[in-house]
Amino acid sequence: MKIDLVVGARPNFMKAAPVVEELRGDPEYFRVRLIHTGQHYDVRMSQVFFQDLSMPEPDIYLGVGSGTHGVQTAKVMIEYEKVLLGDKPDLVLVVGDVNSTLACSLVAVKLGVRVGHIEAGVRSFDWEMPEEINRLVTDTLSEFLFTPTVDADQNLLKEGHSPDQIHRVGNVMIDSLLKHREKAEKSPILTKMGLEPQGYVLVTLHRPANVDAQEQLKKFMAAFAEIQERIPIVFPVHPRTQKMIRTALGDPSDRSGPDNLQKGSPLTEGTINRLRNLKMTDPVGYLDFIKLQANARLVLTDSGGIQAETTVLNVPCLTLRKNTEWPITLERGTNTLVGAEPEGIVGGVQKILSQEFPPGREKAGVPELWDGKTAKRIVGILKNLALQGQLFTNSIHRGNF
Ligand code: UD1
Ligand code: UDP
Repeated sequence: MKIDLVVGARPNFMKAAPVVEELRGDPEYFRVRLIHTGQHYDVRMSQVFFQDLSMPEPDIYLGVGSGTHGVQTAKVMIEYEKVLLGDKPDLVLVVGDVNSTLACSLVAVKLGVRVGHIEAGVRSFDWEMPEEINRLVTDTLSEFLFTPTVDADQNLLKEGHSPDQIHRVGNVMIDSLLKHREKAEKSPILTKMGLEPQGYVLVTLHRPANVDAQEQLKKFMAAFAEIQERIPIVFPVHPRTQKMIRTALGDPSDRSGPDNLQKGSPLTEGTINRLRNLKMTDPVGYLDFIKLQANARLVLTDSGGIQAETTVLNVPCLTLRKNTEWPITLERGTNTLVGAEPEGIVGGVQKILSQEFPPGREKAGVPELWDGKTAKRIVGILKNLALQGQLFTNSIHRGNF
C-alpha cells in the first residue's frame, strides 16, 4: 500500500513521527512518502523536530511558506496536486487541523485518492477558530476517521458519519511524548535558563484571537507582568506572536521602568525588557519543551496539543481561551479554562500557587488509549482493511516510489 503522510506545521511533526516509524517498520505492506508542505519553515518551527523526533527527512518538500489563509491553502493545493498527478498513492494520511491538513485532503479526494484523518472528530465548536473549519471539512472529506477520545466519536456520529468509518485509536501525539520523555529529561534547558524544577510558569500563546488584536495581546502581557512578580515565567514566543508583540508594544527604544506596569498603563517593549522574571525566548525544540513542561509549576497556554500533553504529564494547565477542543482534559482535572482577561488568569495562577486549586488527575487517570500505542493501532487497522480488500492491495508493486 502506498501512503502519503502529510506534515506542514509544528504540531504535525510529533503526530506524524510515530506513524512514519510504524509504517516504515512494515515495508512489505507499506511504502510511505513523507510530504512536508513547508507551512512552517523556520529551523525552530520545523527542522528541529526532525532531529528531536529522529524523524526521516521529508521525501517531498512543497515549500509553500506563509500567507493569508486563501493564499497558503491554495499554494499547498497547487503544489500537492502536481505531486499527485505525477504519482498517486492509495491513501493520503493527514494529521491535526492546520491549513496543510485541509488543503492536502481536498486535493486528494478530488483526484479520487482516499483520505485518512488522524485526530478526527475533535471540536471546539468555535467557528472563529480557523482550525475548527479545517477539522470539520477534513473529516467530511475523509473516509477513515482515527479518533483520540470518546467525545470525538460522538461528535462524528452526530455529524452523520458512519460508525464504520470511525476508529478510536487514542492520541497519537502522546506516542511521541511517552517515547521521548526520558530523553527530554536529559535536556539542559533548565540549567541554561537558570530555572529550578517547579520554580517557574511556562507560557505559550499563538491563537489569532489572542494575539492578533493589540488590545487583547496587551492584556495578556499585563497579566504576565503581574504573575512574574510572584514566580518566574518562561515564554518561548511563537513567530506570529513575536511579530504581533513588536507591533503592539510600539517603540522598542522605550526604556521606561516596570513602574509603568500599573493596570491600564502603556506596556512597551522597553518595559517588557525590564521584567527580569519574564524570560521571553524563541520557540524551543521538542525535547527542551517537554522538559520545560514536565518541570513547570504550571503551564499557561492557548495551544491545543499542550493541553493534552500536560494532562499526561500531570502538570496543571490554565488554558487562555473560553473553549477547548480537548474537553477530556477538563474532566481529568489537569486543565482549566481561564479565558483571556487578566483577572481570571492571575486569579487562576494564584489559586494554584497557594494550593487552593490542587492540580492533578485524582479524579481519573490518563485518558483511555493515550498509552503510546496509537500509531500501532492505526497501522494495524490499515493493514486489516487492506487484507479485507477495502484498501487496494499490492499497489506497491505497481508504483514507482
Ligand atoms: C498554525 C496553525 C495553527 C497551529 C499553529 C502551530 C493554521 C490555520 N494554523 O498557526 O492551527 O496551532 O500553526 O504553531 O494552519 N511564521 C514564521 N516562521 C515560520 C512559520 C510562521 O515566521 O516558520 C510566521 C509568519 O509571519 C506567519 C505567521 O507566523 O505569517 C503565522 O504562521 P501560519 O502558519 O500562517 O499560522 P500559525 O499562527 O503558525
Ligand atoms: N512545542 C515545542 N516547542 C515550543 C512550543 C511547543 O516543541 O516552543 C510543542 C509542544 O510540546 C506540542 C506542540 O509543539 O507538542 C504543540 O504545538 P502548537 O502549540 O504550536 O500547536 P497546537 O497544538 O496549538 O495546534
